[in-house]
Parts: sequence; C-alpha cells; structure tokens
Amino acid sequence: MTQELTTPAVQTEPARPGSGRGWWRDAVIYQVYVRSFADSDGDGVGDLRGVRERLPHLAGLGVDAVWLTPFYVSPQADGGYDVADYRAVDPLFGTLGDADDLVRTAHELGLKVIVDIVPNHTSDRHPWFRAALADRPRGAARERYHFRPGRGADGELPPNDWESVFGGPAWTRTAEPDGTPGDWYLHLFAPEQPDLNWDHPEVREEFVSILRFWLDLGVDGFRVDVAHGMVKAPGMPDIGRGEQARLIAGQALPFFDQDGVHDIHRSWRRLLDSYGGGPDGARVGVAEAWVADAERLALYVRPDELHQAFNFHFLTCPWDAAGMRRVIDESLAATASVGAATTWVLSNHDVVRHATRYAAAGPEQGLARARAAALLMLALPGSAYVYQGEELGLPEVLDLPDEVRQDPAFQRAAGQEGYRDGCRVPIPWSRTGASYGFGPGGSWLPQPETWGGLSVEAQAGVPGSTLELYRAALALRRRLPGLGDGPMAWLPAPEGVLALSRPGFVCTLNTLGTPVDLPVPGRELLASEPMAYGPPRGDGAGAAADGAGTVRLPADSCAWWAV
Ligand code: NOJ
Repeated sequence: MTQELTTPAVQTEPARPGSGRGWWRDAVIYQVYVRSFADSDGDGVGDLRGVRERLPHLAGLGVDAVWLTPFYVSPQADGGYDVADYRAVDPLFGTLGDADDLVRTAHELGLKVIVDIVPNHTSDRHPWFRAALADRPRGAARERYHFRPGRGADGELPPNDWESVFGGPAWTRTAEPDGTPGDWYLHLFAPEQPDLNWDHPEVREEFVSILRFWLDLGVDGFRVDVAHGMVKAPGMPDIGRGEQARLIAGQALPFFDQDGVHDIHRSWRRLLDSYGGGPDGARVGVAEAWVADAERLALYVRPDELHQAFNFHFLTCPWDAAGMRRVIDESLAATASVGAATTWVLSNHDVVRHATRYAAAGPEQGLARARAAALLMLALPGSAYVYQGEELGLPEVLDLPDEVRQDPAFQRAAGQEGYRDGCRVPIPWSRTGASYGFGPGGSWLPQPETWGGLSVEAQAGVPGSTLELYRAALALRRRLPGLGDGPMAWLPAPEGVLALSRPGFVCTLNTLGTPVDLPVPGRELLASEPMAYGPPRGDGAGAAADGAGTVRLPADSCAWWAV
C-alpha cells in the first residue's frame, strides 16, 4: 500500500485543554466500518492491518478516537453483527495480534479506540446456539436463548406477532433430525442472529468476561449494539399491529427500551469504572438505542449508566431550521437533566448518508447541506461521531446491482431506513487504482467511477475541499476553548437561519435555498461556502470580514465566527 502518497503528516495541534469532566464529553469519534475502510491484503475486504496503516490519516484529520465495527469471528450474515466467537478476530479481518497492534499504534498517535459489542444476539454458529439446537426437545442449553412452542393446533404459528427489524416474523421454527418441526426461537434481526435470554445468569457473566477480555487488551470503550433490546417484556405479549420496526415514531414496543436494560448498563458501568483512568483515561460505553424521545434516551446516560448515546433524533431531523432547533433544545435539556453531554451524529453504516438524505434538489445541494450540517454539529456542545467518508462528502451509492448487495434486510422485506449497502461502499483513498487505493485488489462493493475525484488524494491540500473543511473545523475545535463541552445560547435570527453562541464564538446556519443578509457576527473563522461581504450599514464605507458591515450567507451554508 502506498501509504506515503495518501497519508498526511500527523498534525501537531495541541490537545484541547478539556473540561476535566471526562474525555468523552466533547470527543470527536470517527467510525471505521472495518470492511470498507482499508484493505491490506487485496482480498477486497477491509481489515485491521489496513485500518492501522491508515491511522495517521485519522490523527491528521484531528479526531480524538475511533470506533471499529465488529471484527470478531462471524459467518457475516449481517456484516459481522452475528458473532460466533467474541474473543477472536475473524481471519477475514486479521488476527488478535493485529487488533493488539492497532490499539497500540492508535494510542501512540493519541487516538482512543472503541470496539463494538453485540450483546442482544449471537450468531447461529455460536457454540451456545449449536448446543441449544442439539439439546432437544427442551433442554437447559436452550434457556440461554428464547425458545418457545408455536401456536395453533400443531405449533405451526409463531409464538407471538413480533416482526424482525429486517422484515418478516421475528421467529424461526426449528426442526428435529427426522424433519419433524419443533419449537421456535426469537430473532429480532436475521434468523442467523438468535436473541440471547438476558434473564439467564450465564449470559450476564459471559458478557462481563468478554468486556474484560477487550478492556485488558487496552480498548478505551464499547459501542453497545442494540443497547435498548436485551430485555423483553414479561410474557412476550402480542403487539397487535404491523410496522413494528418504525421505532423512532415513539411507540412502546415489548422488545425495545424495556426498563430492565438499565440494570445491565449499570453493571457494565461499574465494570468500566473499576478500570480507573480518571477523566482522561476512563473506559466508556456508548449506547446504540433507538428510543421514542430525548427523555427516554437520557436514561441511558444517567451518571451510573453508559457515557454516551447516539442522538438519532438529530440524525433523522429533516433539513429545517425550526425542526433542528427543536431537536437540539430537547436533546440538550434531556442530557443536562442527567448531567451528561449530548452525542451528535449525522451518518453511520445503517442509514442513507446525509449528503444524499439532504439532497432534495440534487447532489450539489446535498453536498452543500452536508458540509453545513457538519459545521453545525461540530459547533454544538458535546461529542460528535463522524462516519468514514463523510469527511470526503461521499454520497450514498444508489445504483448497486442487486447481486452484489449483502444487507440481510435486502433479502427480507423493508429494512430500517432502506437497504444499507449504499453507505458501506469502500472509501476512495487515491485518484486511480483498481479500488481507488482502498487496497491492492478490488472492493467487495463496486465504487462509482467518479470516486477517484472524491478521494483523500484528490482533496488533500485543496482549499475549500470537504476534507480540508473537516480538518480546519476539527483543528479549530481543539484550539477554541468555547467549543466542545460547555454552554450554548441562541441568538435572534431570521426565519430559516440559526445563530448559536458559545463563549467567544458564533455559528450561523442558513437552511434556506436563498442567500440571507445579516450584520457581520464577528471575525470569520471558517465557512462551508464563501461568504460575501457588503458595506457597513449606514455610511456605506468598505466591506468587512472582521465584525462590521453585512455578510451574505449563501444558501444552505454554515459559518463560524470569533466574537
Ligand atoms: C445495529 C447495527 O448497527 C446494525 O448494523 C445491525 O444490523 C443491527 N444492530 C443488528 O446487530
């Protein structure tokens, strides 16, 4: 791999002074979707050595930590979220030694490492599930999962009406060796992902042991997959209606966001805290919890629970100033009520990339809005996650041929936000080459021909490129004491415009499709589009970028100002 060609010198920005209240409160964390980040061995699938070789890019970008998606032994029925051995690395991604090297190198570069933990379900190839299937008809090994007899005269109907998030029933029927149908087992996701029974003490003990394994290897925390799903309502009652996976609309569902999950998170917090480390070295947990509202989400980040929870209400908010302001206010109020910071996110490996989500009038508009949204997010109080490739302005790939798609949701019915391969296409590092520098071979999903022009190589050092916008924003965020954790207030602004104030700092966002004139808020620090300055109001003398006169905020733009 031609590392020198595409990796910048590691930036030497001083670390933020920090609030001393915990590194996670204002950290910028970069999500590495391991399959699609960098491939060191040319098999077309990203791997841990590939990630390690590219870490200087992330240090140079200016993030504080990386989150690695699952790289454990897995049949890959759901991109690795179906784990068969939680303590071993899948040969597709490397070895345990590679994981160890990666963590060490990241730490040398000043980056923390968060790994994914998948506690709601195992793979159907996990030894526990193999043992459960073999323990016929109703043996003790089945109690670690949810096996139930079916309904109907011959047990031919699923035990209840729950639907899988990936479509179809959430139950699959087992078969005896002679082919006779047996009991059913629960899987909220694919049939290859049987749900664990978290009422079973061995399940709880096993996960404490798995967490210890990775903490002892040196990881700085865990992203907890389906953190809202491990506990099911007693008796597993019917729901009585379809469309059960549309969670964000606020329904109470008997398989998500049950109060019992908080006991698990409390016990994990005690474990994380037992590793010490103080505010700068604490081991952390971040919840992937799709829950009804900001108040329910805040329960996951109470002082004795996890440290962060992804703010999916921000992610799903449409491009609308009033709506965004409402989500920001509700999120800040809810997290403040429990003393936590908010964790902003715009994209991840499960949703359509925001450059495409915001592209109502075409890709140019989508990119302009994506750049503006990034500056807004990085100006807000709290922590932020950046999904690989968003710093390049990558759009969703919408025209993948059906035969290359691997998302299990595609094989079943409608998925969470649609099908998820289009946001997982391997990222481009160089202008040319079989996989634009992703690796020495091809790539497991085809990259669009235009992606050479969006590569790291094509954007590095180019003023105004999306990569340089992110680098500049992250460098400023480190330098300006008023950003990150801390207070924020809204300033008066015309309809369609947001203006927020932090100590010594103002951020303006124009969500309209037309320019808006404002009195210059301060000295321009950074802007997603070039600002145009007019003469000072009144005497008409001279343009100003330093706090006098008027500024024309371009359509769909965001700017940062020193005040
Ligand atoms: C959330 C993960 O982000 C997603 O990719 C996965 O399919 C489900 N959880 C099930 O593990």
